[in-house]
Amino acid sequence: MIIASRPNTFNMTRLIPFLSIVLLLAGGCVQQPAALTDAEKQQYVEKGKGLAQASFAALSGRLAEAIEQGGVPYAAPFCSVTALPLLDSLSKANNAVIRRTSLKVRNSANQPAPWEKEILLQYEAQSQKGEALKPVVKAINLNEVAFAAPISVLPLCVKCHGKVGETMDAADYEAIKKTYPADQAFGYAEGDLRGMWSIVFKRE
Ligand code: HEC
Repeated sequence: MIIASRPNTFNMTRLIPFLSIVLLLAGGCVQQPAALTDAEKQQYVEKGKGLAQASFAALSGRLAEAIEQGGVPYAAPFCSVTALPLLDSLSKANNAVIRRTSLKVRNSANQPAPWEKEILLQYEAQSQKGEALKPVVKAINLNEVAFAAPISVLPLCVKCHGKVGETMDAADYEAIKKTYPADQAFGYAEGDLRGMWSIVFKRE
């Protein structure tokens, strides 16, 4: 009897750590998103580009209009993705979250998530080397695919993101600082990398 029970006890104690490792590994694998196929990549690049272009056109059009109507302090709230009903309907229609982020933000709600910061740093390094910045598509978890594309500074942008007292009027900047006391998004020149579009799609 004693002889028969021994191997059992021995097996169980050996098995428990082994099983925990197997479970841990399996748990780790569940979090790993499956790599995107080339066809999927192409599909999300096209979708993302379309949405980013439409959003950028709507935002800059509305901004230029608002500056014309009421000057820079009046126009400032329009440089926001939440200020445009079009972006809201584009997001809903595409089951996507459209936002903009940057290494130097004006509104802290636009701070980059870790995956966004990684791409922003990559864009910054490429832009310093004078390389062309391309859209990026990647699976960020099991259910979501992210699209990123660079945002460059146009002549219109330096009125609010330019150099204080040079390309940006000092009094206008005072007004902006009142709403955004922790602002970091100034000092840019035309052509600089300002940030990026970040569009997160539900994976189909
Ligand atoms: C009239 C002033 C004004 C103009 C012109 C303007 N911006 Fe902004 N920008 C702002 C304000 C104010 C915010 C913060 C918006 C918010 O609360 O989300 C902002 C935010 C941003 C952000 C989000 C990241 C952050 O810093 O919070 C990006 C990216 C951006 N602007 C890019 C641009 C680009 C590109 C242009 C030119 C096409 C431009 N802006 C023109 C005032 C302006």
